[in-house]
Amino acid sequence: MLGLYSLGMENGILYETILTTRNPDGTPNAAPIGVICKNNEEVVFYLHKGSKTFDNVRREKSFHVNILNDPMVFVESTIGNLESGEFQADNADGFFIKSAEAFFRAEVTSEKLVERKDHLGTSTTNVIQARVLRVVKNQEHVQPLNRAIYGIIEALVYISRIDIVSEDEKKAYLNQMSEISRLVNKVGSEDHKRAMKRILASLENKK
Ligand SMILES: Cc1cc2nc3c(=O)[nH]c(=O)nc-3n(C[C@H](O)[C@H](O)[C@H](O)COP(=O)(O)O)c2cc1C
Repeated sequence: MLGLYSLGMENGILYETILTTRNPDGTPNAAPIGVICKNNEEVVFYLHKGSKTFDNVRREKSFHVNILNDPMVFVESTIGNLESGEFQADNADGFFIKSAEAFFRAEVTSEKLVERKDHLGTSTTNVIQARVLRVVKNQEHVQPLNRAIYGIIEALVYISRIDIVSEDEKKAYLNQMSEISRLVNKVGSEDHKRAMKRILASLENKK
């Protein structure tokens, strides 16, 4: 059986995917969700209470993870709704997105509700572990989305401009850089982290 490694996924790395789930009325739902590859056949992710995806995964205990790079699919599934024609039923097992580079169906093997209190109040997150049941590749080369490389490219653009901007802009760039560094260390691989460390070291000479 094909596993997550056949999709180019690596252990411990977080990928931005589109989760498709079934609503109580049987219609499909899509939402961008960051999914961590645990090993060839297991994923871990965090669902924040308040979304349809949170409710649907708790009720159905199964879902599809779609790998794609189409910006409008990400936009519509976040701030609008994907048209019903974009989905396809996977027999009676839920839905996937037709245009996905690849998708896999998975079932929940463990879930844990975690409450967090901060200055905005209490929020609830469901920490989900799931087992991959079936992987389908619609093309030979699949590229699961990881945000770290975009952060590194942005950081390099900033660093290449930092000597020619005003003091105020420089301050803004430095703030952006520390935000990018936080992101890269959260979602990147060891290679990405090493690259970011090198960028920050070179920044020290420019302060
Ligand atoms: C790139 C990206 C990644 C996201 N990752 C998560 C996540 O890991 N967990 C989560 O609960 N929400 C995540 N979200 C937010 C949900 O996608 C968003 O709340 C969505 O509107 C929920 O839609 P739904 O109500 O149809 O489920 C993410 C959003 C984006 C744009």
